[in-house]
Amino acid sequence: MIQEVIITTQDVNGTPHIAPMGVHVEGDEFIILPFRPSTTLDNILATETAVMSYCDDVRIFAGCLTGRKQWALTPCQTLKGSYIASALAHRELSVQRIEEDETRPKLFCQSVYQANHAAFQGFNRAQYAVIEAAILVSRLHMLPLDKIQAEIDYLRIGLEKTAGANELEAWGWLMAKVEEYQQEQG
Ligand SMILES: Cc1cc2nc3c(=O)[nH]c(=O)nc-3n(C[C@H](O)[C@H](O)[C@H](O)COP(=O)(O)O)c2cc1C
Repeated sequence: MIQEVIITTQDVNGTPHIAPMGVHVEGDEFIILPFRPSTTLDNILATETAVMSYCDDVRIFAGCLTGRKQWALTPCQTLKGSYIASALAHRELSVQRIEEDETRPKLFCQSVYQANHAAFQGFNRAQYAVIEAAILVSRLHMLPLDKIQAEIDYLRIGLEKTAGANELEAWGWLMAKVEEYQQEQG
């Protein structure tokens, strides 16, 4: 199973970095797979730690992909690092082993601490639409424009039926990014 979360890391000077990542969960292992080059990867290699934040504020996913990375953080319990202050839950990870790869190394981690902070509010199609659109935005340069447009048209159906203010704001940021890219491509 893959959990779409916000990964928080920090460099050796303690400067935090946040990025959405799909973490593979296999038994009691949490596997982070960053594509090179990646600040998340560099920080994890330097500190051998990472933090997963389980967030339902999808503005954080969309924000990271559109240059909005200033989200409130809270210090971790067991390691140097922080988690997203508004997260429903978070998990502190220690790296156990690394499978090297030129494109996408695998970082096998163990959970050393986890805590719940707020109740799950139920599934929401607009949140799903924003996450999918954020993934599309992260791959704009890899996908044909007509495929991106077709997927956005489909995702917009669920978005328009079920979004709240946060989802609409996040969607707006992503669509501005797609339009900017379309204009660049002519
Ligand atoms: C839901 C979601 C999941 C993502 N999963 C991954 C992932 O598993 N690996 C990865 O390298 N990038 C992933 N991305 C894209 C990164 O968040 C983005 O490209 C980021 O810039 C990573 O680079 P960084 O570590 O230098 O910040 C994902 C994006 C989204 C929206």
